Amino acid sequence: MSEPKKLYIKTYGCQMNVYDSERMVEALGGQGYVETKTPDDADMILLNTCHIREKAAEKVYSELGRFKGLKADNPDLKIGVAGCVAQAEGQEIMRRQPMVDLVVGPQSYHRLPEMEAKARTGQKALDTDFPEEDKFEKLKARPKAKRAPAAFLTVQEGCDKFCAFCVVPYTRGAEVSRPADRILTEARDLVERGVREITLLGQNVNAYHGAGPNGDMTLAGLIWELNKVDGLERIRFTTSHPNDMADDLIEAHGTCEKLMPYLHLPVQSGSDKILKRMNRSHTAESYLRLVERIREARPDILMSGDFIVGFPEETEEDFQATLDLVQEVKYGYAYSFKYSTRPGTPAAERPQVDPDVADARLQRLQALITRHQREVQDSMVGRTVRVLFEKPGRQPGQMVGKSEYLHAVHVAGADIATGDLRDVRIKASGANSLAGELL
Ligand code: 5AD
Ligand code: SF4
Repeated sequence: MSEPKKLYIKTYGCQMNVYDSERMVEALGGQGYVETKTPDDADMILLNTCHIREKAAEKVYSELGRFKGLKADNPDLKIGVAGCVAQAEGQEIMRRQPMVDLVVGPQSYHRLPEMEAKARTGQKALDTDFPEEDKFEKLKARPKAKRAPAAFLTVQEGCDKFCAFCVVPYTRGAEVSRPADRILTEARDLVERGVREITLLGQNVNAYHGAGPNGDMTLAGLIWELNKVDGLERIRFTTSHPNDMADDLIEAHGTCEKLMPYLHLPVQSGSDKILKRMNRSHTAESYLRLVERIREARPDILMSGDFIVGFPEETEEDFQATLDLVQEVKYGYAYSFKYSTRPGTPAAERPQVDPDVADARLQRLQALITRHQREVQDSMVGRTVRVLFEKPGRQPGQMVGKSEYLHAVHVAGADIATGDLRDVRIKASGANSLAGELL
């Protein structure tokens, strides 16, 4: 048998990219590749890129520049660009960087094996189509390798909401849900390979409406089906849009035992004027009422969110409304970003906020969010949480896992294996994690 070829894959951006990279590694496994952790001895380098913010494309070009020497040393090395920058700028990448052999958009990953074969013959391979077929069905795992206890599973892709700042509808295309039976088969397969927690992924995951045995299924319906899978202990999902937070999903948070008490529900801004200009079709008040209903269903739920500051025409008053909303919700985790112009999106053409003003606002928002995160984390001290242990910690004999609320929890000096689910009494709260003892 010939030596396996080595694949180095670097992933940027969201969890969906992490999932996609895993699928690509598996797909190229069928072409005789094994993953390697350094680009130095690779036969193929793949950058799985993100286009959501900042100078994403420039980052890709500078990263590619670093591989020039490797390509000179090894002319057989193939270099590919995947992900959302590939989708947005495929032709341009091929033109500007002749050393790139392969460009593949997120909807075409199932064609990667044939594209790799084409690149091996010295031809350029480019595919940024939006084909009809279910790429994940065609990307099925070949080797049934053991998996870590927590896994991602993409159930929905794309977006039809067209928020004025966002590039996703253009890079990932229209909203599509995978059929429920395929998701359940994949989930059972993951469980057989050692997975105990599954996070269902989608850019608009709570808009899920995949085909089920009796017509379209809602996300809550899918979660209830997954709840029946023996050996699967925990279910999470991300990212949700406030407008798709259906009653059955809110109810599931109160009644479905495997659904974890954590919800990532981005609001982006607390100002109704800005929300309108963002084309969000909800108000600050309707979002706050929604959070109230979710907390009625599941009082201990940990809320998480995303914010954009410095969106075009944001005034100090608008920004203050965002701070007020954060104050009211008190997020356990929140991610805040300075608005970044995305070419081709509606907001790109509008009057921009002074970057220094936006920077100062971002710092103020992050200070408030960090204080809340810390308070929520500190409030766990003295409580008992259930931890899914994922890996050894830095100290000998220590293990790290995640609580129901997604806090990292360290436990020292106990007999714990990867994949164990145990009750832990929290003793201390550190900068980014908790420490405790087994009960
Ligand atoms: N600028 C800044 N942040 C953005 N996000 C999406 N598009 C932009 C942009 N153009 C943020 C949103 C979203 C998260 C994934 O990234 O907050 O929820
Ligand atoms: Fe980035 Fe969005 Fe593409 Fe994910 S879907 S990689 S967040 S641009």
